[in-house]
Amino acid sequence: MPIFSEQEVQEFAELQKRYGAPAATVLPVLWRIQEKMGWIDDSAMEEAAAICQVPKSHIQGVVSFYTMFFDKPMGRFHVQVCTNVSCMLHGSEKLYNDVKGKLGIPNHGRTEDGMFSLEEVECMGACGGAPMMAVNERFYEKISTDEAFTIIDQVGASGNLPTPKFFSQLPELSEATNR
Ligand code: FES
Repeated sequence: MPIFSEQEVQEFAELQKRYGAPAATVLPVLWRIQEKMGWIDDSAMEEAAAICQVPKSHIQGVVSFYTMFFDKPMGRFHVQVCTNVSCMLHGSEKLYNDVKGKLGIPNHGRTEDGMFSLEEVECMGACGGAPMMAVNERFYEKISTDEAFTIIDQVGASGNLPTPKFFSQLPELSEATNR
């Protein structure tokens, strides 16, 4: 069964007209697949290749190049800990190892219940908030091991992502998340 409806394929066709080439929509198509399925399997790559009018090998190359694309099932909550320079200087190697120990999975592993997966990542552009941990698209900055554990426990118990502490220091962000 195809991943995309006819209407969605039509929307990609409109996008391709705007970009001037079907191949220019590889990233948005892949991103949309991952949003729908959580990862990008072999048949999804074939569908993306057909929509973007490129060889499947091109899609495989893109998926394997960008770390944000997953070619295997990941957890419902994907935990990423940056261990690049700024974060490393603020203790992220210990943070990463502590989080890894708490989840009990290796890098790129997934918990048995499918709730969490873990990834050690390069700079996520939040160096000013080092050390940082991201869960899905939410960033937790200037974070301690205890705070990381609390977030993981809260997510595990509620299935919801807690609001990052720095949001409460910025009223406009705090309002935006409560909308
Ligand atoms: S070095 Fe960690 S976010 Fe940039």
